[in-house]
Amino acid sequence: MRWIATCPHETVDVLSQELIGLGIQNQTRLHRGIAFDTDLETAYRAHLSLRTASRLQRIVREFSLPDIETLHHELKNIVWSDWLRSHRPFTVTPALTDLQSQNLGEAKIIEAVVDSIQSSAFEKKPPLFDPEADNPISIVLFIRNGICVLGIDTAGRALHKRGWRLTGHPAVLKETLAASILLLAGYTGEETLLDPMCGSGTIIIEAAYIALNKAPLIHRGKDDFSLEHLAGFDRNLWRRVSDQLRAQKKAELRAPIYASDINPKYVKVAQDSSLRARVEKYIHFSSQPFQQCHPPTPRGLLVANLPYGERIGAGIIDTLYQDIGNVIQKQFSNWSIALLVPQNAPIHLLKLKTTQQVDLMNGALPVKLLIVKC
Ligand SMILES: C[S@@+](CC[C@H](N)C(=O)[O-])C[C@H]1O[C@@H](n2cnc3c(N)ncnc32)[C@H](O)[C@@H]1O
Repeated sequence: MRWIATCPHETVDVLSQELIGLGIQNQTRLHRGIAFDTDLETAYRAHLSLRTASRLQRIVREFSLPDIETLHHELKNIVWSDWLRSHRPFTVTPALTDLQSQNLGEAKIIEAVVDSIQSSAFEKKPPLFDPEADNPISIVLFIRNGICVLGIDTAGRALHKRGWRLTGHPAVLKETLAASILLLAGYTGEETLLDPMCGSGTIIIEAAYIALNKAPLIHRGKDDFSLEHLAGFDRNLWRRVSDQLRAQKKAELRAPIYASDINPKYVKVAQDSSLRARVEKYIHFSSQPFQQCHPPTPRGLLVANLPYGERIGAGIIDTLYQDIGNVIQKQFSNWSIALLVPQNAPIHLLKLKTTQQVDLMNGALPVKLLIVKC
């Protein structure tokens, strides 16, 4: 069985390591993701436990695609009732990433797939093409350099939607990006973790999940993944894999996790979110300015997503970056540090000797992860 896990281009290496952790060695790197071969049981485990993947797809067919006639021909070879169930609406999502594929015409590609599915033999009626339906099954065609990879999205809602997020903060990180930052910083749960600018708590909640070996999607409800609505879904195997993952969660942390923010309103959001994520009891919360932070233990890892200039104002941001640099040098010299900052942030004011800088994207904003290893 062949699958694709997608992720931002910048974090393909992190995702690759996660797949290796699941025992998946046979990987092909793509521009924004990784194709891999694995059995159903491991694939189910991947759906529930990958921290940095955005989406997952089961590959149906890969073929060269010089023209639209070839697409019609290839589609005839697919037995759609092996993949889709009658009652579930579907949509078609072509990803045409070069001129050659765009010239095939998006509308013609969609029409070809819809015709192929709706004229296929199904026990009852064929599934309905309905892009406006609630969570339709998405047939994805990734076409580039004359090659078409036709897959079915098996995640449903994007995988960063863990289910615990609350509103109430204007600048939240995606959960998948927070997990990538922690893994890039080498966090394993063996050392104290502090986020002194925790905002809505994304970093510390993801950290608690890593430290507890807790699968990030384990609390999604029944029927929440698209794969649960596809032909051939094995409910017993899915339950067994879910139970195994629950059993592998550690009961206690090996090192404490601390979170604070200057704004008590955000600390409350972080606390409430961590309660929904069922990790609240593992995290120490407080409200204080970073300028007054003291290391809770002699060593540890400080991870923070620093405020952005647009919201705060250039003059204030300069002073804040100087303050942050001073506190780190005076108080946290025995700690490892990982700071996520916008590409255009005044990082020279931090006066930190970084061991590594990783370019990332926070949504549409180019950012940098500054790592100082102690
Ligand atoms: C970019 S946001 C962090 C968002 C967070 N990573 C999340 O996913 O929700 C930066 C946070 O820094 C906090 N902050 C700003 N100045 C601060 C200071 N001097 N001390 C502590 N926190 C501060 C803000 O209240 C804000 O919540």
